[in-house]
Amino acid sequence: MSVQKFFGADGTSVERVVINGPQGSSAEVYLYGATVTSWKCDGKERLFVSRLAKLDGSKPVRGGIPLVFPQFGPGALPQHGFARTRQWTLLGAEEHGQGVVVNLQLKDNEDTRASKWPFKFDLLYTIDLTATTLSTIIKYENVDTQPFSFTSLMHTYLRVPDIAGTTVTGLKDVVYVDKIKGGGDLVEERDAVTVAANEDRVYVDVPGIVNVNYGSESVEIRRFNFKDIVLWNPWAEKAAEMSDFADDEYPQMICVEAGTVASEISLRPGQTISCGQILTFNGSASHL
Ligand code: BG6
Repeated sequence: MSVQKFFGADGTSVERVVINGPQGSSAEVYLYGATVTSWKCDGKERLFVSRLAKLDGSKPVRGGIPLVFPQFGPGALPQHGFARTRQWTLLGAEEHGQGVVVNLQLKDNEDTRASKWPFKFDLLYTIDLTATTLSTIIKYENVDTQPFSFTSLMHTYLRVPDIAGTTVTGLKDVVYVDKIKGGGDLVEERDAVTVAANEDRVYVDVPGIVNVNYGSESVEIRRFNFKDIVLWNPWAEKAAEMSDFADDEYPQMICVEAGTVASEISLRPGQTISCGQILTFNGSASHL
């Protein structure tokens, strides 16, 4: 197990961290946005990053796990807030019994304090890699003198062999908002949700574990203190509008995004909350 650091052109700033975990597992994290851009498990890449994604800090990474904070979607701040476009600080990395853990931090600065969300905050992001799991957990702390509220999300792009053979389970009977067709308070009736069009849905107060299944493999998404799941695939028409997403890529991905976005998380001064997800890969082979 090891952690490699890659340095920027100026020779000082660490731009990305490559984590080599047990049994061939690995992950890669850009300090720009603290975006996880790779998770390899059982010999294959499990996250999707567009081949047109910008990895130079000029815009949010189109793929991997961008972090949405403190605003989901459009609003007073730029779309999805500012955390995904900030340079995070690498606090350290260490091996533990079953894998490797990396800690990153983002605090308010002059820029964020001058924004429409001017509060003082401290985010501690823990990325933990084992042979079959990738756990991403943020501890949000209010270090301001006044209370604040926010929405937040782990915008996980999963790589799938073919969207046509992909199902998402764990959403049956959950109320959702359809952001494409409009309207809320619809109820998911399917055990196994399939995607065959431009879909953009917020499933509200999802009770348990969600699984993304393709062929004999699946990725389990277990959440902590995140209430909702966003399901998104741009399909052909939305893909054509995105300069950092190739037209033919939409069948290879599905975004299943754990967060709290239909309601807000509120913290009093000094209060903290830890929220996150554990992704577990389940393969057909039982050697892991
Ligand atoms: C999803 C939203 O979380 O992110 C969609 O529900 C949005 O509405 C998508 O289109 C991608 O957002 P962005 O800003 O990364 O293009």
